[in-house]
Amino acid sequence: MVMASYEHLFNKLEDQFLLTKEQMAPIIKGFISEYQSGLKTPSTGIASMIPSYVTSLPTGNETGTFLSLDLGGTNLRVNAVQLLGDGQVNMVENKRLATVELKSGSGDAFFDWIADTIQELITVKAPHLFKPEQVNGQETLSLGVCWSFPIDQTTLDRGTVLRMGKGFTMPNVQGRDLSDMFHEAFKRKNLNVRVGALLNDTVGTLVAHAYSNPRSRIGFIYATGCNAAYPEKVSNIGKWDETQRSRFNPNDEMLINTEIDIFGDDTYLPRTKYDHQLDKNHSQPDFQPWEKMMSGAYLGELTRLVAMDFIQQGALFDGVVPAGWDTPWSFQTAMMSSIERDNTASRDESVKILESVYSFATRPSKDDIQAITRICRIVATRGAIMVAVAIASMIEKQKLHIVDSNEIVIGMNGSTYEYYPYMDVRVKKALRTWFGSEVSDRILLEIARDGGSIGGALIAMLAAAE
Ligand code: BGC
Repeated sequence: MVMASYEHLFNKLEDQFLLTKEQMAPIIKGFISEYQSGLKTPSTGIASMIPSYVTSLPTGNETGTFLSLDLGGTNLRVNAVQLLGDGQVNMVENKRLATVELKSGSGDAFFDWIADTIQELITVKAPHLFKPEQVNGQETLSLGVCWSFPIDQTTLDRGTVLRMGKGFTMPNVQGRDLSDMFHEAFKRKNLNVRVGALLNDTVGTLVAHAYSNPRSRIGFIYATGCNAAYPEKVSNIGKWDETQRSRFNPNDEMLINTEIDIFGDDTYLPRTKYDHQLDKNHSQPDFQPWEKMMSGAYLGELTRLVAMDFIQQGALFDGVVPAGWDTPWSFQTAMMSSIERDNTASRDESVKILESVYSFATRPSKDDIQAITRICRIVATRGAIMVAVAIASMIEKQKLHIVDSNEIVIGMNGSTYEYYPYMDVRVKKALRTWFGSEVSDRILLEIARDGGSIGGALIAMLAAAE
């Protein structure tokens, strides 16, 4: 097969996916206007711009041992976090896989499982980090809960679960107060732990990163899901009534969970036919349009759909659809990252990856692998551009690019950002396209490791200190 004859297909794909500065502009403008309207709209149902009740960022000097819990799409991690000051921490973790059975079973069984995991951490894995009266249950331990799903918070330690997602379908959880569900399970399990703070993972990331770099102004998660938090002036939180607002100084800043994942519609998001196809076949169509264009949960499926189009036009695998290729979600994002990382001259590694999932009439040729790699690169690069437009909109909303000439620090967390090859370079390149090199050189995308666990512990600590 002569690849060059299909160059026009790649050119067309690149035109749709590799957005220019002009094509980035309406998205950034659209996001900024969604921030403004979200700040005014009450947080019920599918809400955005959710106030976190966190008004202070750590200084890096905090000390003490705290308990934190981090529930993401795949794992539950509970941690005993010892803050050592000077931005340093020591942690002991108890990590469990959230199985399909747990994700779809009863809410009570799920929260009991969490209570057991905490119990094991305190009494078996990390008793040396706690006081004896905390280990034997005489003294209450405060828990910071980092929850990677939206909650409508009413105070720092209370909030209603707005919705789950990421495969969690437990009945009777949505619409209930999250702290109540924890406390009921702790009572059933005789565990002397109280929820001290609830926080979205983006808020946790920003707080945790501020512990190591107090200049941080954005916390960004690029993983299975995608979302970001930044500090906003209390006086701009128009969704609150006077009573809520009067509890804070109008000039204080509060971290806002943007839930940017739900932003976007066809008036400003340049969705392609592949995006519409993916959305139509999804269990929650029309939901999280931006996230569906770029997060780790979707890059693989988008690649599968694009490649299917190429196969049907004869540009791949001699026009023969491999057995299994038509199965939705069969092409995992992790496969894309292995294929992009494969630098063997023969590209045998990539062939092996594809053959482990699909059956081919004839072994994929080197040209086929090059073409698939190019599709992966194009789809992943659009993901990076989508990250960059979100970051750019938050920088512009806070005017960080014009207030002074200091560094603009962003705490980045998440498997797609950290482990997908060249992702960081691609995000930086897109930021340079938008801002030019003078501003983009000042933007520091720093890895905020363990945002959930450290952030949770820090907020539990900041809450305990009040
Ligand atoms: C959730 C957010 C979360 C993000 C990153 C999204 O799907 O709605 O609450 O912050 O994923 O984990």
